Amino acid sequence: MSHKLILAPSILAGNHINLAESLSIIENSGAHWIHLDIMDGHFVPNLTFGPKAIACLRKISHLYFDTHLMLDNPQNFIKAFADAGSNNITIPVEPTYDIKQTLKAIRELKCECGLSLNPETSEESILPYLDDVDLILVMSVHPGRGGQPFHESVLPKIGTIHQWRKQKNLNFRIEVDGGIDLTTAKACKQEGADVLVSGTAFFAAENKKAFVQAICG
Ligand code: DX5
Ligand code: ZN
Repeated sequence: MSHKLILAPSILAGNHINLAESLSIIENSGAHWIHLDIMDGHFVPNLTFGPKAIACLRKISHLYFDTHLMLDNPQNFIKAFADAGSNNITIPVEPTYDIKQTLKAIRELKCECGLSLNPETSEESILPYLDDVDLILVMSVHPGRGGQPFHESVLPKIGTIHQWRKQKNLNFRIEVDGGIDLTTAKACKQEGADVLVSGTAFFAAENKKAFVQAICG
């Protein structure tokens, strides 16, 4: 089954002294999702914001909150991010922890659950979890910061995951994150992606409504 293409602007590229203003820029663009990047300084060499910022944004928004955890110990934080108002919580496949149990716990907290894989991580690593996820997040840059160029090498990986989804008759979404602009969005869409995250290109676009339209059209 196919999903309607969704653009999820990342507030990482917004103005962090006025996140509320960045949120309203996203709302006014016509996007239905917002992507919230959470970094711990261990899994990735950077820090961002935490559950309190998300809880404050939740009070002023009806967007779908797509929370992307880039943490070594995501299992310790899912309750905090669910309580803050996340709609989806995505956890990474790379660290060592009980991934199945954490995906299950996210659903028990009434959120949808996602699993991410880094550009150098083989798609085989997510195979054991395909029945247990609402979303697979294919990283198209090394996680940790915005503004990096898209890795073309992940395109076949998107295609493979799309094939698996069809063969297994599953319904999870395929999201791609990093270096998404009008050109790379098209390439991801062709491979079967149905959620595209965009930070730098979205906030740089003069006409954000037109940017969303051009991608989701
Ligand atoms: C990178 C983050 C991305 C980032 C994408 O670690 O996961 O969500 O915001 O930003 P751009 O669009 O600038 O690559
Ligand atoms: Zn992200």
